[in-house]
Amino acid sequence: MTAIASEIERFNRLSASWWNSDGPMRPLHVVNALRLVYVNEQIRLHRGLASTDNALAGLRILDVGCGGGLLSEPLARMGASVVGVDASPGNLAAARLHAEAQGVAVDYRLGEPSQVLGADERFDVVLALEVVEHVSDMPAFVDTVARSVKPGGLLFASTIDRTWKSYLFAIVGAEYVLRVLPRGTHQWQQFVRPTELTAAVARSGLQPADLRGMRYNPLKHTAAWCADTRVNYIGVFKNTQRG
Ligand SMILES: C[S@@+](CC[C@H](N)C(=O)[O-])C[C@H]1O[C@@H](n2cnc3c(N)ncnc32)[C@H](O)[C@@H]1O
Repeated sequence: MTAIASEIERFNRLSASWWNSDGPMRPLHVVNALRLVYVNEQIRLHRGLASTDNALAGLRILDVGCGGGLLSEPLARMGASVVGVDASPGNLAAARLHAEAQGVAVDYRLGEPSQVLGADERFDVVLALEVVEHVSDMPAFVDTVARSVKPGGLLFASTIDRTWKSYLFAIVGAEYVLRVLPRGTHQWQQFVRPTELTAAVARSGLQPADLRGMRYNPLKHTAAWCADTRVNYIGVFKNTQRG
């Protein structure tokens, strides 16, 4: 078990505001557009598809720590068959309610990946976005998640690096000065260095394919790619075993 009870309770308290794009989840709403383009592009690249092809059609995608479903829903709309997993009952309820209201089919499952995925359940694409910094045992969590990637499949993971810069921007700036995130959203010690993430993923046999920084501007509420991975970053890893 890798869920931290206090973290899950905190997420539960925020669950009603998950789909409010001006509320405490605003930064996730802002980065979502960027992440969706990235996921699409990387899958297209990996599968050697043309820019006019729908890269997601027919794919089986797992979204771990899916929260209210900010990614699960649009991915399902784009033609993927999506399983969303989250340990917070409030978030899962918010995700189910929203998807139902929108008429989008997502298979939402309450619990940890190790509890709710079948022993042999594998996916073409697995997403672990903004979740590995909230678990008690990052390598164990990543291992479970990475093992659910099919041979030839992809794992996407995004998180926050553990640097002086992330302490300044992601904690002091975001939670205390500009208050774009509720206080206590992040614990600096829980942040994950890119080398730690890559090593954890490599233990399950996946290879890094891309890693890039994401910059959130808390004054303008915009997001952009950057070379600097010392605060927010996202990576994609390939299961190079033959399918
Ligand atoms: C910051 S939110 C990210 C939500 C979503 N991935 C996104 O980026 O929009 C982290 C989510 O991970 C969930 N979570 C934390 N630990 C978990 C665990 N061990 N297993 C499953 N979900 C977990 C929380 O309940 C929360 O909904």
